[in-house]
Amino acid sequence: MATPVTKAVFPVAGLGTRFLPATKASPKEMLPLVDKPLIQYVIEEAISSGIEEVIIVTGRGKRAIEDHFDISYELEDLLRQKGKRKLLAEVQKISNMMNICYVRQKEPNGLGHAILCTKNLVKNEPFAVLLGDDIIDSDVPALKQMLDIYNTYSASIIAVQEVDRSQVSNYGIIEATPIGDRVYKISDMVEKPGMEEAPSNLAIIGRYILTPGIIDLLEKTNPGSGKEIQLTDALKKLVKVSPVYGYKFKGTRYDAGDKLGFLKATVEFALKNKEFGKKFREYLKTLKL
Ligand code: UTP
Repeated sequence: MATPVTKAVFPVAGLGTRFLPATKASPKEMLPLVDKPLIQYVIEEAISSGIEEVIIVTGRGKRAIEDHFDISYELEDLLRQKGKRKLLAEVQKISNMMNICYVRQKEPNGLGHAILCTKNLVKNEPFAVLLGDDIIDSDVPALKQMLDIYNTYSASIIAVQEVDRSQVSNYGIIEATPIGDRVYKISDMVEKPGMEEAPSNLAIIGRYILTPGIIDLLEKTNPGSGKEIQLTDALKKLVKVSPVYGYKFKGTRYDAGDKLGFLKATVEFALKNKEFGKKFREYLKTLKL
């Protein structure tokens, strides 16, 4: 039987340069998608997938994330006094969500390095990694879908999605053989290849289930492009020593760390909103597009 995955790592120590100037003094992960910050969507996905321990890798300027998931006595008191019960329950739900551990990445030395910073917390267990930039709208939480695949294969699982050939240079792309419904056995991967060299159009997106061996491999990985320790470099090594599978999840993924991707997510989530989605749709219809 596969060792259960109970821990999830959320690396949020990046600089968010694609979203400047909004991210100059506030974390990208706190950008609100309709009425919740991006990071809350991703943590809720992990919780509803059965994750029990959340590990957030923070860095300078990311204090707002810790405050968001903490108890806010003053605010709760004020809401109580004003009789705003619904809002009070909403605010309390956030701090009661679960226990969260924070690890500090002192310098943004790459996603691989951020994961390495959790070494003493993930210990010798498989763990999930979720990137706050990737917001996935799906009936079954994307991580839950991946955990089901993990339970079958007892191996590392990487979420992939098909992208247009013209887009491959924006992603890590896998070289793989289909072996089951939406499942691929990965033989290699290439970071941001040109259209001609890309081994497929299956792009790696920000959800991973990793077996603990990745930590050793990250320790042996030298800084690559941008002097950062790249997760892809360690994954390339992992593929050579143990099976790694790609899973084409069911759902729509938005790149919310990019301005246009964020706007698309905002419009679509607002249209689905129970409280004002209908009114928003009517408003959009009045725009002369
Ligand atoms: P990205 O490179 O997509 O995010 O890293 P970024 O650096 O924040 O944003 P841009 O590209 O400059 O706009 C993917 C994920 O890894 C985290 C980021 O916070 C993001 O969630 N990360 C990246 C770290 O935690 N530490 C790092 O050193 C680099």
